[in-house]
Amino acid sequence: MAKFRSSDWFGKTDKMGFIYRSWMKNQGYPEDMFDGRPVIGICNTWSELTPCNAHLRDIAEVVKRGVYEAGGFPLEFPIMSLGETLLKPTAMLFRNLASMDAEESIRGNPIDGVVLLTGCDKTTPSTVMGAASVDLPTIVVPGGPMLNGKFQGQDIGSGTHVWKFAADVKTGKMLQEDYMFAESCMSRSAGHCMTMGTASTMACMVESLGLTLPGAAAIPAVDSRKKVLAHLSGRRIVEMVKEDLRISKVLTREAFENAIKVNAAVGGSTNLIIHLTAIAGRIGVELNLEDYDDLGSKIPLLLNLMPSGKYLMEDFFYAGGLPVILNELREHLHMHTTTVTGKGHAENIVGKIKSYNPEVIAPISNPLIKEGGIAVLKGNLAENGAVIKPSAASPELMVHRGRAVVFETIEDYHALVDDPDLDIDETCIMVLKNVGPVGYPGMPEVGNMTLPKKVLEKGVVDMVRISDGRMSGTAYGTVVLHVSPEAAIGGTLAVVQNGDFIELDVPNRRLHLDVSEEEIARRKQNWQRPAPVADRGYVNMYIKHVQQADKGADLDFLVGGSGDKVSRDSH
Ligand code: FES
Repeated sequence: MAKFRSSDWFGKTDKMGFIYRSWMKNQGYPEDMFDGRPVIGICNTWSELTPCNAHLRDIAEVVKRGVYEAGGFPLEFPIMSLGETLLKPTAMLFRNLASMDAEESIRGNPIDGVVLLTGCDKTTPSTVMGAASVDLPTIVVPGGPMLNGKFQGQDIGSGTHVWKFAADVKTGKMLQEDYMFAESCMSRSAGHCMTMGTASTMACMVESLGLTLPGAAAIPAVDSRKKVLAHLSGRRIVEMVKEDLRISKVLTREAFENAIKVNAAVGGSTNLIIHLTAIAGRIGVELNLEDYDDLGSKIPLLLNLMPSGKYLMEDFFYAGGLPVILNELREHLHMHTTTVTGKGHAENIVGKIKSYNPEVIAPISNPLIKEGGIAVLKGNLAENGAVIKPSAASPELMVHRGRAVVFETIEDYHALVDDPDLDIDETCIMVLKNVGPVGYPGMPEVGNMTLPKKVLEKGVVDMVRISDGRMSGTAYGTVVLHVSPEAAIGGTLAVVQNGDFIELDVPNRRLHLDVSEEEIARRKQNWQRPAPVADRGYVNMYIKHVQQADKGADLDFLVGGSGDKVSRDSH
């Protein structure tokens, strides 16, 4: 048998070997588990505080079956779990911290290959970032979406219908009792958001990167085939260790290009940009903001899922799932770049390529929108770029000049937005500052500001909104996000004032503050950096080291990897 990395722990016959094996034996493992077989870490983001991942302990048990069957030794371990719904001030603040936890837990332990159990938005990028910095054989098992929400005879989508219902309650179209009743109708099974929000986007991302077995992304959490996938992934990771198929052999430039194009075709979240860029940074692949526009914006939208479309992830699975999208895009993708199977997508999807419902997955010959993807905007208001998802925006607002109504902070927005005296109408542009990586801190999903009540009451459902924050993948609207440099470090956004005019021109990729250069320079000279929100702890370190959105918002010292070597024993 080949000698694996875990033999540096379990293969020793000295005092250290005794220590490494003896305490493990208190769990009742027999002697032959330490005979040099591949040790498989199961990195579990299970937590009852992360409801989207609360079923992952069951999934881990199924992964173990597969590992044992293939002759491996599975060992499950927890890492910090990031839930989108409870964690304040935003789960994004802790993505990099969780990635450090994953990285050090994998490297520091006797692990030869790792299975990442993911679900809620940040649990996927954080674990993949950490694993990439160690570079062992790695496979991802996405936890899967919830079943479709069902409310008063209609399908409702996680997140998407929260925004809609909240606006309906505000304008009196929905009763408060119905609003409360809808809560349990929306979230009625285990799993993550079943819209094409960030969690589904991340699941499609890891499958298109080649980090999962084929068809993994769309399987609902409670479908028995999710367990089949987990079982087979357990078997496969043992083989990957024997083949030394490390994550760096999968995460090539070609794989990243595939992920960008697939994201365009499925109408994935703008959050993909932040996470994919950060993962690329860990594995040493050059990826810049322009790549997303150059590679993705000409790709047609094929998947009809909320928030841009009509259906939900369960429908996507029944229609054939991601392999159908990969097949439709085959002319655009690198179909032979290595995936965790050791083969390319072309070989992986043979026999699994039929769309069972063209209303859900449209053929490339008749797409839903000719050009999907994410547009990258530049201009004096976003020198390093900003992004917008045209498929979730209003076509009539894609070229728009409007008067800025400025909210200096999120608190300012909440205090003023429904004030009847606020000077605003639907032609204005809402500008929100200080919600970027440094400013909030943590770049929360607040960019899709709910419109002012007096505008909503006119029946208007969209306005141009601009911020240095992010937007939930379940949200929609003409929302310009990720403005870089952000306001809190003195980007031009910091000096936009009420009454300034702003020009948005998506076809020409332009975001312009119509104020003279001299005036902008003068305002910048008078601008004062806000006081840091934390003077100690992780948040203080985060503020000092976080990169801007266009670089993926990773901590500067985490970019790259340190490999799987550990130099010293523990005693
Ligand atoms: Fe967890 Fe949406 S809140 S995936």
